[in-house]
Amino acid sequence: MSDAASPAQVSPEADIVSALGARSIVLVGMMGVGKSTIGRRMAIRLKLPFVDADTEIEAAAGMTIPEIFERHGEQHFRDGEARVIARLLDGGPAVLATGGGAFMREETRNRIASKAVSIWLRADHDVIMRRVRRRADRPLLQTADPEGTVTRLLTEREPIYGKADLTIASRDVPHDRIVDECIETLHAHLCGQAAASETPADVASAVQ
Ligand code: S3P
Repeated sequence: MSDAASPAQVSPEADIVSALGARSIVLVGMMGVGKSTIGRRMAIRLKLPFVDADTEIEAAAGMTIPEIFERHGEQHFRDGEARVIARLLDGGPAVLATGGGAFMREETRNRIASKAVSIWLRADHDVIMRRVRRRADRPLLQTADPEGTVTRLLTEREPIYGKADLTIASRDVPHDRIVDECIETLHAHLCGQAAASETPADVASAVQ
């Protein structure tokens, strides 16, 4: 009986980690959707390292992102971003939060597709605006009309973010609820229905 009951005791988190192997979980989506906050919490749940691509880019460059944009321009930042993400993907498994523009580059998307499972944290315009107003360190939003800039970026980017393996709605609910949804969705994606259907009722009928 204890043998029959044991599969139900394997946690979804452990299932996910074993299904990932060396692959990482990569969070993509617009500025302000909570990629770093959700990613950090998800990494704790999965007992995986958390890496923030923006922080790694700043460390590699020895300057902040606004400084990189100011001194070298966006193209230079994007090239560095692609290199840093490629390196981080080679060091998996980890939970990796990417900057909002990273997934726009096809080469980076292809790398993510082969070395990770991607989750688009999707939030609507109002949620994004409320959150990005709290910080002034995003060079792309230092415009006369940040709302219009967010609208334009969303129009350009959402079809591309939609190429991620999974989509989770980021909204104003407790972070842990979003993390729970990420874990459930990852589990269904990576471990399929068999694992998802191992309910106590199934186990009970299996041991009868
Ligand atoms: C950017 C998003 C930022 C940062 C840079 C550019 C973007 O990261 O990489 O300012 O193009 O959307 P967050 O999404 O973590 O704010």
